[in-house]
Amino acid sequence: MSDILRLPAERQYESELEALKAAERGAVPDGWKMSPSSVYAYIVGGEVNGTKITPKYIGNSRLVQVAIATLMTDRGLLLTGEPGTAKSRLSEHLAAAVSGCSSLVVQGSMGTTEEQVRYSWNYATLIASGPSEGALVKTPIYKAMEEGLCARFEELSRCAPETQDALISMLSEKCIAVPELRSELRARRGFSLIATSNTRDRGTNDMSAALARRFNTVVLPSPATFELEMEIVTGRVAELCGQLRLPAPQPGDRAVAKAVTVLRELRTGATLDGREKLRSPLSSCSAAETISLLTGALAFACGFGDGEIRDEHLASYLRGSAVKDEEKDGAAWKEYLENIMRKRGGEWQELYKRASEQEN
Ligand SMILES: Nc1ncnc2c1ncn2[C@@H]1O[C@H](COP(=O)(O)OP(=O)(O)OP(=O)(O)O)[C@@H](O)[C@H]1O
Ligand SMILES: [Mg+2]
Repeated sequence: MSDILRLPAERQYESELEALKAAERGAVPDGWKMSPSSVYAYIVGGEVNGTKITPKYIGNSRLVQVAIATLMTDRGLLLTGEPGTAKSRLSEHLAAAVSGCSSLVVQGSMGTTEEQVRYSWNYATLIASGPSEGALVKTPIYKAMEEGLCARFEELSRCAPETQDALISMLSEKCIAVPELRSELRARRGFSLIATSNTRDRGTNDMSAALARRFNTVVLPSPATFELEMEIVTGRVAELCGQLRLPAPQPGDRAVAKAVTVLRELRTGATLDGREKLRSPLSSCSAAETISLLTGALAFACGFGDGEIRDEHLASYLRGSAVKDEEKDGAAWKEYLENIMRKRGGEWQELYKRASEQEN
């Protein structure tokens, strides 16, 4: 299995899920693999009978409880928030813990059709033998209803309103009618839907009030403090380095703190001490962006250096993260370099020098 780049959550964390199931004390809802409190332990981390449970979501644990409780009700769960706030990650791990299966996913896009939400037909079989169960092509949501599992819908607000609205009857009646077969599929216990949607991307469609009522919305915030952001970034970078076979940064590596500082300041529009305001670029500068930036810089440092991230590596990757739109973000980045980083001096001097060299 080691040649698989990324396993689904339920495979990657199989031993944790097994340990939690073996130690189960609570009541397990119908169709679930474990009790709500075990799902919670799987998400926030801890230890069970000597097995370490790694935290999957770091932050407001009350939000995680609300999300889990929602899955016990007849409403869907909608995770929204700024880009890179772990909506997809939380959705995948919730589905893995609740249903033992996180791969029943509809990837929403402008091109997603109603057939990709309900069901479609294998036209060769349909023409050869007419409508039959065998000619029906089941969507991930159809399969989730049939088997009583969690289905996931990524980027719901990117879909056209008519595609989104196909979910209304599915969520309220928990049933998909198949008029061609004069039948209907009624969802088994355990079925639920976890959707994610981004509050900031352009090209998104507002959700109808009718659909919004069928969801309980949980807004995932950006990390509240610098320390929390450091914890998220350090943990995830170490985990990713393991997957990508890269050496993880040493604890206390200043490159990590510098990357978190710069992107956090750019995102929040103020210096860490709150004394100076600054212009935020349009690009998201999220913790997720910092994680990608650091893994990129590490790969660079390993491929072309001695494995240690130096300011020269950091400089190019920082620019790449902060400036997604040259015209709009370029100016904000230059302002940051001149007004904030240059004035800091000390350990920031070299980074400033390397970063400003690229501007000329
Ligand atoms: N609070 C957090 N706890 C744990 N990991 C986090 C947290 N915030 C961000 N991350 C990390 O950020 C990365 C991106 O997360 P994810 O892709 O789930 O974000 P998203 O909200 O779905 O973003 P997008 O809106 O771009 O789809 C993941 O690697 C995740 O581990
Ligand atoms: Mg996502």
